[in-house]
Amino acid sequence: MKNNKLIIFDTTLRDGEQSPGAAMTKEEKVRIARQLEKLGVDVIEAGFAAASQGDFEAIRSVAEVIKTSTVCSLARASENDVRRAGEAIKPAVKGRIHTFIATSPIHMENKLRMTPDQVVERAVQAVKWALEYTDDVEFSAEDAVRSDMDFLVRVFDAVIQAGARTINVPDTVGYSIPAQWGERMQQLIARVPNSDKVVWSTHCHNDLGMAVANSLAAVLGGARQVECTINGLGERAGNASLEEIVMAVRTRKDIFDLETGIDTTQIVPTSRLVSSITGYPVQPNKAVVGANAFAHESGIHQDGVLKHRETYEIMRAEDVGWGANKLTLGKLSGRNAFRSRLKELGIELESEELLNGAFARFKDLADKKSEIFDEDLHALVSDEAMEEASEHFKLVYLQASSQTGEIPHATITMSENGQEKTAESNGGGPVDATFKAIETIVDSGAELQLYSVNNITSGTDAQGEVTVRLSKGGRIVNGQGADTDIVVASAKAYLNGLNKLYSKSERAHPQV
Ligand code: KIV
Ligand code: ZN
Repeated sequence: MKNNKLIIFDTTLRDGEQSPGAAMTKEEKVRIARQLEKLGVDVIEAGFAAASQGDFEAIRSVAEVIKTSTVCSLARASENDVRRAGEAIKPAVKGRIHTFIATSPIHMENKLRMTPDQVVERAVQAVKWALEYTDDVEFSAEDAVRSDMDFLVRVFDAVIQAGARTINVPDTVGYSIPAQWGERMQQLIARVPNSDKVVWSTHCHNDLGMAVANSLAAVLGGARQVECTINGLGERAGNASLEEIVMAVRTRKDIFDLETGIDTTQIVPTSRLVSSITGYPVQPNKAVVGANAFAHESGIHQDGVLKHRETYEIMRAEDVGWGANKLTLGKLSGRNAFRSRLKELGIELESEELLNGAFARFKDLADKKSEIFDEDLHALVSDEAMEEASEHFKLVYLQASSQTGEIPHATITMSENGQEKTAESNGGGPVDATFKAIETIVDSGAELQLYSVNNITSGTDAQGEVTVRLSKGGRIVNGQGADTDIVVASAKAYLNGLNKLYSKSERAHPQV
């Protein structure tokens, strides 16, 4: 029988989280996981349980709430890692352990300092440990792209015999090109004994900008699982982006003849949620989810689209969720309407107190802004969750002034561990003056690496969403804040970044 289902394995919460500054809190991971489930992904890789206690708990919380998608934890091929992963996924309705070990000479000799025989033995052992917790075990040969073909066949044969059900072939360093990657997948399937008993998977990085092309080539070569992330987030240049893979398979059904379980109308809302939580803006010309992806600028194109849409459009904007940002609530909406709209958006605030706080902010926003969209609600609860999660520094009052011919000035009152402090400063502009005033109090020594503003919806009364990237002592964090006043949004974002710098525990890196 022909297998025409393509399994979508989302690793936004694990590989995506390895993007600098994209570390997420437990609450943020749960919110994204709920949205991924709504999107219809088959597998959610929720984290790397052995990385930190925080990541272990985040995977556990995701495993507790997700019902239809499989929840997975990554684990190096060590007993401790695999057992931590096994414990973390225990509450899941469907749980998977994804264990990996490097198979290329460069990694085995220089990083692992293990012989090929030892690597095979350890891979088999890791699969056996994992099977004590779940029968859904995935094995990855890290740096498969630079591994010897005969050795890959040997390792995969051994782990399949040990009981692995999914075999993942990663291009860890983004080195492959599509024709080569497709052929490698085809050859592995042809040469590895019992290859028809497992699902073949691919996991590609984007260092040469070919992650999506390589993944699709692997699919044509026989892979039936693709590992990908929302907005292409991930280590270094990122992973293959989920939205591009899904829309390519759907738009070119004539080539792929495959189905995914993805509800494509949830793509844009998911992209926005991930962008706002991680602080990674989506570039306007990004395929599928960029603001310009469906915008026709030239007169000839506009004329063509007006006459017959398909002249210049191969996908419909509404099919990927553009325009789904319904006008939801207004000034007169009550608490129940607010609560049920949040629920429809997959947002469940954990306590009445949090709901009350979010509702008060909603009323405040409705006074400043006539139309409230779903995106506003997402930003609003993000703010609420941020404040709840990290109370170290909090904005109390801000007054910033800028006037032609005058030096911009800001006065800020903020609380540090409940104690109010006030400072003022001049600056190059009101945002600069605000950040300097904050630093007069905090004296963090952090370096501001990035400052960006996006409007959440359109119009000049839209909320501005500010992202700042701060680095200190080798740690990088992203802070976000949203407000109809972008100077206030900037102050919130800066304080959010400082809170992350001061409070978050370090995560271990899975590849080290
Ligand atoms: O890129 C990679 O090789 C990985 C593995 C852990 C699958 O992320
Ligand atoms: Zn990876």
